Amino acid sequence: MSEQRVYRIAAIPGDGVGSEVVAAGLTVLHRAAELDGGFSLAVEELPWGSAYYHEHGTMAPEGHVDVLRRYDAIYLGAVGSPSVPDHVTLWGLLLPIRQELDQYVNLRPVKLMEGVESPLHDRVPADIDMLCVRENTEGEYCGVGGRVHRALPLEVGMQTDVFTRAGVEWIARYAFELARERRGRVTSVTKSNAGRHAFVFWDDVVSDVAAEFPDVELEKGLVDAVAAHFVGDPKRFDVVVGSNLFMDILTDIGAAIQGGMGVAASANFDPAGGVPGMFEPVHGSAPDISGKQIANPIGAIWSGAMMLEHLGETEAGGAVSRAMEAVLAERALRTPDLGGEARTDAVADAIASAL
Ligand code: NAD
Ligand code: IPM
Ligand code: MN
Repeated sequence: MSEQRVYRIAAIPGDGVGSEVVAAGLTVLHRAAELDGGFSLAVEELPWGSAYYHEHGTMAPEGHVDVLRRYDAIYLGAVGSPSVPDHVTLWGLLLPIRQELDQYVNLRPVKLMEGVESPLHDRVPADIDMLCVRENTEGEYCGVGGRVHRALPLEVGMQTDVFTRAGVEWIARYAFELARERRGRVTSVTKSNAGRHAFVFWDDVVSDVAAEFPDVELEKGLVDAVAAHFVGDPKRFDVVVGSNLFMDILTDIGAAIQGGMGVAASANFDPAGGVPGMFEPVHGSAPDISGKQIANPIGAIWSGAMMLEHLGETEAGGAVSRAMEAVLAERALRTPDLGGEARTDAVADAIASAL
């Protein structure tokens, strides 16, 4: 008998609806592994987050990123609680993982699935199908800045964006490679009319990379216009690449047009490998609906499918995506955000059964 592949997964449910959607996702992923027969997931749950903070004064033990290096992948729910300032929770747990593991790609598919209604009038799945490629370790999120003269009338707050040639080159190259496998079109997003230093630099570096890909069409877009086109003309986009903050915002618009925050998925990784990737829904801890089993688990389940594919289990990952799409297409079982009455765990059970 051939040996089973075993993947060590660090599950970090985190805060709010995080625990509900991660549990739902794991139901589906374990079932997918069981049916595949070739691998299993050794999941260890790490109790990090705001509850941990209230007990220990930090969001996670010291050196938490190094703890994560020992795993094959990280499956995360959400981080953030009304009881702790957001910059404390996010800089205490999530952002150091992305940055210190150099997960410089944050891949976020924006795809309208059959059976899900877009708030955009008359849009069908063929109209909304793009891959958003978010630079994930620098730019506006580099953390450089400070506050001086606290609480005095001359107080100053400064936040500096840092873009490196290597960072822009890598993310651009990743986007062009993806586009080559798809419809051959990259939209690079900046604000290089007003942002005359870093974003003009971004444009220059992207043009250099584009020269390596004569078969891919490059469109340079300004973020304000791109935001409008996401709503007015989403069909024009194939692969969209941009800075950390711009793509954070654009992918919430993306989530909205593909049916809502609850359905959007993401994968954080270094394409070169060597470090675990992190797979998480795009949404946050949704304190307004947490604890009620009404959160949509689709974003987390889809992120789980991306995790399986990233681990090399492409068949099982594809099976999870197909089962998820089949359940959505039936329009029978869906959470309240999609107009249904189903509970989080019931949606997960239905997808697990559809596998
Ligand atoms: P949010 O994504 O948590 O919620 C925005 C809206 O979307 C809310 O109305 C919420 O009910 C709805 N929503 C979110 N997920 C849903 C789901 N699975 N099913 C149905 N509806 C869903 O964003 P927010 O309210 O701005 O942030 C709440 C907290 O989460 C903050 O502390 C924020 O910093 C944090 N946050 C964390 C992450 C992350 O961990 N990756 C992402 C975004 C926000
Ligand atoms: C996301 C979130 C995070 C981000 C926050 C919570 C720091 O909004 O993953 O989209 O901006 O990256
Ligand atoms: Mn966001």
